[in-house]
Parts: sequence; C-alpha cells; structure tokens
Amino acid sequence: MTERAIGKVWQIPKGEGRNFAVDGMEIAVFHTRSGELFATQPDCPHRNGPLADGLVGESIVVCPLHDRVYDLRTGVELNTDCRIRTYPVRMTADGTILLIKQPAEIAALETADGKTP
Ligand code: FES
Repeated sequence: MTERAIGKVWQIPKGEGRNFAVDGMEIAVFHTRSGELFATQPDCPHRNGPLADGLVGESIVVCPLHDRVYDLRTGVELNTDCRIRTYPVRMTADGTILLIKQPAEIAALETADGKTP
C-alpha cells in the first residue's frame, strides 16, 4: 500500500468538495460537516456534472446538474444503476490529505465491469 499527499484539508471548507490533480488526473475530495473525507472521480457519469460543486451531505453528494445522489462511501447512485469510482483517502494529524493508493494502482485493480474493489 502506498500513500500520496494530495493537499490540505483546510483547502476544502466543511460541507464542500474540491478537485485535486494527482498524476495527471483529477480526483474530487469531499469534506463533510462532521469532518470526514471522501474521494471520487471528478465528473458525474450522467452528463459530466462537476461533482465537487455538488451539495455534500454526511456521506452523499448531489450532482449540481441533474440532482443524482451518490453515496460517497460506495459510489452507488441512490435512484439509478449508475455509480462513480471512489478512492480511499485519510487525513494526517497536520491536516494533510493522503490518497491511500495511487490512481495507477487503483486502475490496475479495477475489474472489467468498472467497479473498484
Ligand atoms: S450530470 Fe450529474 S446528474 Fe446529470
């Protein structure tokens, strides 16, 4: 397992999301009002809505374009069979956001149906 620093938690106000560049790709990181962090692909699979601009609940994000609701823990959309990719992240004591696996490693682990193990 590898960890990579991608930013600081103070860059994301509670209840919001921000995009971070990691190895040539973007990841959306969400900071919930209770202080949890979640990371997903940046664009909604419906019509590429910017998920980091969505409304963030305790463990969900609502796409700002057409209101699809994604569970940030699983990536599953609550009302359709749509889903988004999620990435494991954690925060250090000094507020550094760490991506636990690098994107290339995650891509290599993905199954043929696009689900992240
Ligand atoms: S682009 Fe996200 S719901 Fe349509």
